[in-house]
Amino acid sequence: MRASQEDFESAMNQVKLLKKDPGNEVKLRLYALYKQATEGPCNMPKPGVFDFINKAKWDAWNALGSLPKETARQNYVDLVSSLTSSSEPSSQVKPGADRGQQEYENLVVTSEDGITKIMFNRPTRKNAISTQMYQEIMLALKAASKDDSTITVVTGNGDYYCSGNDLANFTDIPPGGVEEKAKQSAIMLRDFVGTFIDFPKPLVAVVNGPAVGISVTILGLFDAVYASDRATFHTPFSHLGLSPEGCASYTFPKIMGPAKATEMLIFGKKLTAGEACAQGLVTEVFPDSTFQKEVWTRLKAYSKLPPNSMRISKQVIRNMEKEKLHAVNAEESSVLQERWLSDECINATMNFLSKKAKL
Ligand code: COA
Repeated sequence: MRASQEDFESAMNQVKLLKKDPGNEVKLRLYALYKQATEGPCNMPKPGVFDFINKAKWDAWNALGSLPKETARQNYVDLVSSLTSSSEPSSQVKPGADRGQQEYENLVVTSEDGITKIMFNRPTRKNAISTQMYQEIMLALKAASKDDSTITVVTGNGDYYCSGNDLANFTDIPPGGVEEKAKQSAIMLRDFVGTFIDFPKPLVAVVNGPAVGISVTILGLFDAVYASDRATFHTPFSHLGLSPEGCASYTFPKIMGPAKATEMLIFGKKLTAGEACAQGLVTEVFPDSTFQKEVWTRLKAYSKLPPNSMRISKQVIRNMEKEKLHAVNAEESSVLQERWLSDECINATMNFLSKKAKL
């Protein structure tokens, strides 16, 4: 079977997650196959003989001659698959076993009492989601969807739940320039949100502190949201020259009504936990002093309910919406691809990164 464009894009994301450097030879082969698959036969002038790095890249690409784009794409996917099969965290972990911190750089994933807990673990950055962390969250969710736990929980380490997208992600510009960066980011965002849309088990957010941006918008795709009374919910998209993602443009008006959704998604109003609960985004709020104890006691009791029944009930509740949610996700990602290139967004990001602005 020929690799689809989606397989190819997913392979590109997998490459970024390789734990071990595959070595220069493999990297050159990946580069050459990528160029061939996206641009066709080598079309660059041959670099000078002392320009060692570019000469090696040119040689590798040029050596592929007139290999068809589709074949290059397939070869790229096969090569990445051979590299990841030996290093993918989920393949090393027995279902239900403890997934130690060493498996993920930015998450702590544990499985106990029928509950898989995925904890954001960049407390010094307020758990901002870096590019690698997006990939790790997707991997952790995929592993959790197959393990023998009954409920999956997402939470944060430290005083924040999550401060949203890591704004420094926009500074890592690939050779294709900012347009290429925006394209890659839109693909990753669509995959990331898609993983939440398709997640098959009860998914619970334990919001231990303030939540910002995408960590708020995807809450509409969770099955229950428990919040500490210290938590706040903030989606400052207009302040950043952005637009909503995580399917919030669809789920928020449904959950809280269009007028309240507008205040959050367009005017960037920050909600307290109590307000978010009153508007239906949060299931229940607990005093911070007893939050962890009360929530985990409750979740442990829920995790003993029959797992198949819970899964099927989730399907019944959610499946009718899935197609619509995937369409919304694709549209939001494509709008954002444009927004990321806008002056409004670039200026706001630069202001934050140069410490001139905070929320
Ligand atoms: N992206 C990149 N870095 C972030 C971040 C984010 N989303 N959130 C926090 N950080 C970094 C801060 O820059 C700071 O880095 P430094 O130690 O190098 O100065 C560090 O994490 C700690 O955050 P700090 O700003 O000192 O904490 P605070 O309590 O004063 O403020 C926030 C916390 C979340 C209000 C503030 O960091 C902020 O406005 N972050 C941006 C949030 C954002 O816009 N997210 C995207 C939404 S779409």
